[in-house]
Amino acid sequence: MKVSDRTHGVEYAIRDITAYANRIRAQGKEITYLNIGDPVKFDFKTPAHIKKALIDAVNRDENYYADSEGLPELRQAIVEKESEKGLDVTPDDVLVTNGVSEGLDMTLASIVDPNSEVLMPGPYYPPYSSYVKFYGGRPVEFRLHEDGRPDLEDLRSKITSRSRALCIISPNNPTGEVFDRKSLQQLVDIATEHDLYVICDEIYDKIAFDSQFTGIGKVAKDAPVVLLNGFSKAYLMTGWRCGYVCMNSSSRKLDQFREDVPKLARVRIAANLPVQHAAVAALRGPQDHIPQMVDRLRRRRDYVVKRLNAMSGIQCRLPRGAFYVFPKIELGSRWKDDKEFVIDLLNTTGVLTVHGSGFGSAYGSGHFRIVYLPPEDQLEKAMDRLERFLR
Ligand SMILES: Cc1ncc(COP(=O)(O)O)c(C=O)c1O
Repeated sequence: MKVSDRTHGVEYAIRDITAYANRIRAQGKEITYLNIGDPVKFDFKTPAHIKKALIDAVNRDENYYADSEGLPELRQAIVEKESEKGLDVTPDDVLVTNGVSEGLDMTLASIVDPNSEVLMPGPYYPPYSSYVKFYGGRPVEFRLHEDGRPDLEDLRSKITSRSRALCIISPNNPTGEVFDRKSLQQLVDIATEHDLYVICDEIYDKIAFDSQFTGIGKVAKDAPVVLLNGFSKAYLMTGWRCGYVCMNSSSRKLDQFREDVPKLARVRIAANLPVQHAAVAALRGPQDHIPQMVDRLRRRRDYVVKRLNAMSGIQCRLPRGAFYVFPKIELGSRWKDDKEFVIDLLNTTGVLTVHGSGFGSAYGSGHFRIVYLPPEDQLEKAMDRLERFLR
């Protein structure tokens, strides 16, 4: 039977690679999963007060359909969080979604027409290009300098009459790069000049290590900024699926978008209601698990980066946020490309990582992504295996 060409082309390297791993596991080999950025699968657990808020909501029988735009108390709590980060936003500018993933889908569905182009710095989180392609558009990668600043000349040279939006992910997945205020300002200025939506994903806003994180709101003024954020990472609620879309209240250019995107929220009915009560508790309750998590992650990051840079054929930059490293590999004549490297590593050692080209071929190729969420003893074993494999 025919399936749509649209769906047939969808890719998500981070999970697609698991199919290989499962085949190997079926042969009895132990797999170390360093491919999915889910802290709750490791030793970071959902705080007790957030779990209790979910259970209490279920026990109060708040198990019905929520408002399509989201629970009013949650929209208000989101306004407080995002206003503090600098964005001009009211509850009417907030839509609660089943994860950032759904928010991204709705946003791109509302912006992308066939042949539209969406600019994104490479390498990027794969759903950005998958959704753009799904809606008939074309993802266009632009370059970052070695130090992580955007290459503005390259960006300008790639803007055409078909360009619709510029995506920013900060801190970034897969590189952990964090844009500073100046870079954000430059990107927003270019987008404003060319009437491009700015879609900014700040899901890792609380997981920044050495430098101060700056939110897009600080530089947005009246630019058409659509901010995506959620509860999966900092609040350890990956499995519960809760995120949101915030539209810059000061932007008149967003008026049509503001009117249209809630239609998509209504047609999918609502986000999960008990989880929205838990999200209110996450934003309003104690926050002390976050600095503890960041401290543990910093130690794991430092350990992994040190081990990687001591291996011949590997070069790894120090990520400034999130929980991924994205080392460069010398492929030489041994491996055809980064995917072959990742599969060979998996077959030989059982260590599952993700090939860099899955995060965009222009700037991701020749790299691989490692999730450094596991405790140090597991990371040590994985690094030992990788080192032996490279030798
Ligand atoms: C940059 C980025 N955005 C969005 C997501 C998905 O978020 P959610 O769990 O809220 O759908 C991820 C997950 O890894 C991510 O890295």
